[in-house]
Amino acid sequence: SQQLILFVVTMCTACLSTTAAAEDALRERAKAAGLKAIPYGVQHVADNPVTREKIELGKMLFFDPRLSASGVISCNTCHNLGTGGDDNLPTSVGHGWQKGPRNSPTVLNAVFNKAQFWDGRAEDLKAQAKGPVQAGVEMANTPDAVVATLNSMPEYGERFARSFPGEDDPVTFGNMAKAIEAFEVTLVTPNAPFDQWLEGNDGALSDGQKAGLVLFLDKGCIACHNGVNFGGQDYFPFGLIKKPGADILPPADRGRFEVTKTATDEYVFRAAPLRNIALTAPYFHSGQVWDLPQAVAIMGTAQLGKELTPEEAGTIAEFLHSLTGEQPEVVYPVLPVETDATPRPRL
Ligand code: HEM
Ligand code: HEM
Repeated sequence: SQQLILFVVTMCTACLSTTAAAEDALRERAKAAGLKAIPYGVQHVADNPVTREKIELGKMLFFDPRLSASGVISCNTCHNLGTGGDDNLPTSVGHGWQKGPRNSPTVLNAVFNKAQFWDGRAEDLKAQAKGPVQAGVEMANTPDAVVATLNSMPEYGERFARSFPGEDDPVTFGNMAKAIEAFEVTLVTPNAPFDQWLEGNDGALSDGQKAGLVLFLDKGCIACHNGVNFGGQDYFPFGLIKKPGADILPPADRGRFEVTKTATDEYVFRAAPLRNIALTAPYFHSGQVWDLPQAVAIMGTAQLGKELTPEEAGTIAEFLHSLTGEQPEVVYPVLPVETDATPRPRL
């Protein structure tokens, strides 16, 4: 019987080390395929040193509805940091209750995307931030009115001066965008179960999630969704193999074609980043799909020409849940009080 115990113990050890070897092989495969954990620390961004002063100012601007013409809409209206950095609507609602044409992507981890927007038309976050303030369907304001609003409140003047030292006229539309970019650089979600697993913690993913990762690699999702953000790096036709229906891919939105005016860019979009995807339904630029396994199945047919079984789509979705990281804890800023000089709300 001692021999039997020895036999059982040896078998178990052997079996454990095979699992450990398989686990390491999967981890190496994921790394070789270009998957990366979210790095700790503040990312460097071009032409905009990120300082504490600037982050704090950017946070105020991000939450300040007075950047909008109505005084109702802030960045946080459509990129709610309490709900995954988006608005959980099919397409955003902006000035005068207008419905915009596209779904709001999360601002979380946006700093890791190669370019901003579904079609990548903004080079970086500071270029991006000037868009929504002026967009008629979003905040419907003008740069001059924003600068007048900011200048009307002495506290903003002081904070811009401290954030952009040495500048004669620090309160500008461009500096507003730079401060917002500095705040957005802090909106990252490290330490997701997937990241913990990638860094060596075998138990951080469930067996189902590991099976989902294998499918994600085997089926070919990885070809477009890779890097730190599982996407956000490159552009592909939505419907590469088979165009989805007009409800999901509305014919009027031709994607990157509007940016480059090149025929081959018709219906081309940025491979969407998949970090925190479990928090940001509904899905796709049209925001018409609420169910994550369904979105995965659509990707199978549209991008890969593969009909995924409901089990496969469900298992991949289970894996995608492991991309939900630690959400940034943001203390809601107390904003400068308006004065007689502050432009009145234009509703
Ligand atoms: C896209 C930030 C205001 C709706 C984005 C992106 C960022 C961002 C970083 C790109 C994310 C990505 O491509 O992954 C901001 C900031 C705002 C602001 C800093 C305030 C200055 C708003 C408002 C709305 C809105 C008020 C809704 C009324 C959207 C939509 C997109 C978007 C629909 C996608 C547009 C497209 O791809 O054409 N925003 N946003 N944003 N935001 Fe905002
Ligand atoms: C969007 C997952 C394969 C390119 C998405 C979305 C998900 C997803 C969940 C929606 C993201 C959101 O709404 O924020 C997957 C999975 C795949 C896969 C699980 C494998 C089964 C691919 C492949 C490509 C690709 C192979 C490139 C050929 C895109 C693009 C979008 C997207 C361009 C944006 C579509 C839009 O404009 O709405 N993917 N994907 N995906 N994916 Fe994939």
